[in-house]
Amino acid sequence: QRPDALPRDLEGVHVVVSAGGTREPLDPVRYLGNRSSGKQGYALARTAVQRGARVTLVSAHTLALPEPAGVDVVKVGTAAELRDAVHKAAGDADVVVMAAAVADFRPTASAEFKIKKTDRDPDPIALTRNADVLAELVSARRRAPASAQVIVGFAAETGDTGADVLSHARAKLARKGCDLLVVNAVGEGKAFEMEDNQGWLLAADGTERPIALGSKAQLATEVWDAVVELRGR
Ligand code: CTP
Ligand code: CA
Repeated sequence: QRPDALPRDLEGVHVVVSAGGTREPLDPVRYLGNRSSGKQGYALARTAVQRGARVTLVSAHTLALPEPAGVDVVKVGTAAELRDAVHKAAGDADVVVMAAAVADFRPTASAEFKIKKTDRDPDPIALTRNADVLAELVSARRRAPASAQVIVGFAAETGDTGADVLSHARAKLARKGCDLLVVNAVGEGKAFEMEDNQGWLLAADGTERPIALGSKAQLATEVWDAVVELRGR
């Protein structure tokens, strides 16, 4: 879509978007990471600016992506850094979209010096849970009754032997307490590092819309349409 063809329906709205994947250090040269490219978060930020929003993009590790024009970019590395940056930016935000792939766990200790190979078997890596930023945003909003902040989560699901993608996603929406959950079906070459996504947009009121296979810019448009609709209520 041409930028001048987009509605200016986010004028005066401060949106925070997190993007990319966090990296949790094991030592100065190694980390636990994930395959998030950052493309969806960047597309969300770019589209929001084009629709008139003031945008803060909290960017963890991404592929080499051009910085969207007119966006305030805050670069972070670890889940802890992302958490601090998101909470700081979310203080006066009208909308927060958590598109980042945030590590659930970090190595309990990060070695000061490079871990050396020895003749014996390595120790297992001990892990510690990271804070759930999305859940924290929802509870912070609950503590501020006047807040009309819209909170959007993302879920990449493969489905498994216990439940399919949608069942996992419905449970996640209920558990997280956010307003919208963007669900991507992943695995078998879907979503990660690809230009296109496919999935569902689940709303807290039980509304469920399929998102057709399309570009990440199109998905961004559908997410902002849903956010504008929620804000208008
Ligand atoms: N998220 C977050 N902080 C974390 C982990 C996830 O804010 N420590 C956010 C993600 O940015 C995403 C949403 O929560 O918007 C869902 O992430 P996901 O990994 O799918 O959910 P989890 O609750 O971590 O469940 P699981 O990984 O077990 O599927
Ligand atoms: Ca997770």
